Amino acid sequence: MGAGHAGSAAGPGLCRRFGCPFDAGIEGVSVRRVVLGVSGASGAMLSLAAARHLASAGVEIDLVASAAAKRTLAEECGPDAVETLMALAARTHAVTDIGAAIASGSVPVSGMIVAPCSMRSLAAIAHGLDDNLLTRAASVQLKERRRLILLARETPLTLAHLRNMAAVTEMGAIVMPPVPAYYLGHATLAEAASQTAARAVDLLALSAPHAQAWRPKAAG
Ligand SMILES: Cc1cc2nc3c(=O)[nH]c(=O)nc-3n(C[C@H](O)[C@H](O)[C@H](O)COP(=O)(O)O)c2cc1C
Repeated sequence: MGAGHAGSAAGPGLCRRFGCPFDAGIEGVSVRRVVLGVSGASGAMLSLAAARHLASAGVEIDLVASAAAKRTLAEECGPDAVETLMALAARTHAVTDIGAAIASGSVPVSGMIVAPCSMRSLAAIAHGLDDNLLTRAASVQLKERRRLILLARETPLTLAHLRNMAAVTEMGAIVMPPVPAYYLGHATLAEAASQTAARAVDLLALSAPHAQAWRPKAAG
């Protein structure tokens, strides 16, 4: 684990990049450990892409995948996908292990990405159910005012989905539906997923940006 920072130019406990109290966890604790939650929405490749970006940045991953996530990983990414994901993590926790380290706010992590985030897990987080390790760890990020990024995936959306997205946003989470960056002209789903995952990792503000930036064509 790398060294954390006691404060920043924005003030003690305030994030240099965002300058708001929700970022206190980023500056106040180790910046080298992140929880990666994977739930059972389509877009399982997002979890692999996020894990690769985090690992390449030297960030330790605490992985927690729901039972439905293991099914979508196998169906969408192949029979070895869960093992591949686990190999990128420093620690893998059973979703039933509600006594794991990441269930406690006393364990310093920089934040959490849920990629992809199902509507069930979104609802549980929005209502503070803490009914498994994934939703408990998400709740911990909210209560500790750390960054929580939810790659919420469903379409179309019901009013319940929208209300749950509003509720988690009010609590400080960032809802980031994995909508492709069409303007970048990615040729494959894997490229689009990698870009989306890079944007999610960049929102943690732990390292230099991973995502490809838009470059306007020269004015003609
Ligand atoms: C192949 C497959 C794709 C699914 N896609 C989605 C999806 O895109 N969004 C969603 O909210 N649920 C989706 N589901 C349903 C969830 O997996 C289901 O609601 C599950 O209970 C979620 O549990 P979890 O949040 O603990 O992972 C999908 C299920 C399967 C089997």
